[in-house]
Amino acid sequence: MDELIISRRSVLKFAAASLVSGAAHRLYADSNKPNENFGKEKTMEINIFAGAYENGQYTLPELPYDYDALEPLYDQETVRIHHNKHHAKYVKGLNDALSKLEQARKENDYTHIQAISNALAFNGSGHVLHTLFWHSMKPGGNGGKIPNDFKTALDESFGSSDAALKQFAAASKAVESNGWGILAYEPIAQKLLILQCEKHQNLTIWGVVPVLVCDVWEHAHYLKFQNDRAKWVDNFMQLANWDFASQRLEEAKNCAMAIRR
Ligand SMILES: [Fe+2]
Repeated sequence: MDELIISRRSVLKFAAASLVSGAAHRLYADSNKPNENFGKEKTMEINIFAGAYENGQYTLPELPYDYDALEPLYDQETVRIHHNKHHAKYVKGLNDALSKLEQARKENDYTHIQAISNALAFNGSGHVLHTLFWHSMKPGGNGGKIPNDFKTALDESFGSSDAALKQFAAASKAVESNGWGILAYEPIAQKLLILQCEKHQNLTIWGVVPVLVCDVWEHAHYLKFQNDRAKWVDNFMQLANWDFASQRLEEAKNCAMAIRR
């Protein structure tokens, strides 16, 4: 079942956000276009997981911008299929895995526990990463601007923000087969690090909080870029939403502090 699953409450939340920003159907403004609301989105309370889980079921959240909003760097057709086919499939797979586990408990039959557990990790991680992915980009990117606090965090963790960006792009381009480049906060050392994730769930470190993610699965780029993954990653870097990454880092730090107490 590949149909679009968008919760009613998700639509209402985004409608409310649109009313606040004055930009119908858009949470993020295009920084390359004159917009009286540009910059205000950073101060908005953005709940990125709004619409990702409703009434006991995982659901497909609405995009924070229109399907064509990332043109010409990311084409409308790929964004549409990526969202309402591929991301939706992970949502369904996650719900199906949980349903099968519930059935297994009822029947006390764990014959297929390995396959179901695998499906749970794969689809669950796919849902989380795609939800983060849509916010990891914004129309026009940040115009190349990185918030000062976040730039300082990159400097402290990687030596320089320039080195951090180069490592992130290189790691994303070099993922073996399908996977992700992930910039994440590691709560023990309390620093940022860059991971090369395979599929959606492999090669991670438990406890890290992703703050910016780049999807390098073929379905993320093949319609427009074919096998030129490097070109897609270069375009993603121009769309990167550093305001979002900065917000995620602050949330990750607060969460880590609460856990460490
Ligand atoms: Fe994807």
